[in-house]
Amino acid sequence: MFIQAADLRKSLKYDPFKAIIAPRPIGWISTISKNGVPNLAPYSFFNAVGSDPNMLGFTSSGIKHTLINCQDTGEFVFNLVSAELVDAMNLTSAAIASDHNEFEFAKIGHTPSSLVKPPRVDNTPAAIECKVTSIQRLKDLNGSDTNSWFVIGQVVGLYIAQGFVTSDNRFDTEKANITSRCGYMDYMRAGELFQLERPEI
Ligand SMILES: Cc1cc2nc3c(=O)[nH]c(=O)nc-3n(C[C@H](O)[C@H](O)[C@H](O)COP(=O)(O)O)c2cc1C
Repeated sequence: MFIQAADLRKSLKYDPFKAIIAPRPIGWISTISKNGVPNLAPYSFFNAVGSDPNMLGFTSSGIKHTLINCQDTGEFVFNLVSAELVDAMNLTSAAIASDHNEFEFAKIGHTPSSLVKPPRVDNTPAAIECKVTSIQRLKDLNGSDTNSWFVIGQVVGLYIAQGFVTSDNRFDTEKANITSRCGYMDYMRAGELFQLERPEI
């Protein structure tokens, strides 16, 4: 089966794009508005996009509070979604007014970050503090503006919860029980880790 992008909706009932690019890590992004209201929302058009320095990026489909806060204050925090936090994460995807605190709405505790103003989620296995380096509105093949904004932030600090550093000094990815986004209404819990050595040529 081959489907031209323009025919996707005609050929399949649902666009399979997000089910193919899966599982995607969930960037559970905390920000703070210019008036000081904390905000928290999940973004699965999200990933690590660079190293040296480490960079994180996510895409806002439309102008959402997280994007506005990043534009206004230049800071965001990534919070890791463990299986235990998945229901709370889902609650924070509700479209609530910008002057409402999503932490309070979803009854999620928060702790001040070290180097940026947005707080981190209590009980997250890890959080990454970022300062925004660029915000780009994506363009399509015709050079026309799309409804997507790509926010990139440079990592300025990294928090790991107690008990998530292994005896050999690594982050305990398996224990973190990471939950990721697939297509449709599907999510995936991280499975077993395995190791591969890089090829030597
Ligand atoms: C798991 C998950 C992933 C999501 N990923 C995105 C995304 O990548 N981009 C986006 O614009 N919205 C995404 N959403 C929807 C936003 O979380 C939702 O629109 C939210 O209300 C935005 O909040 P904000 O306006 O406070 O930023 C996602 C929702 C869920 C549940």
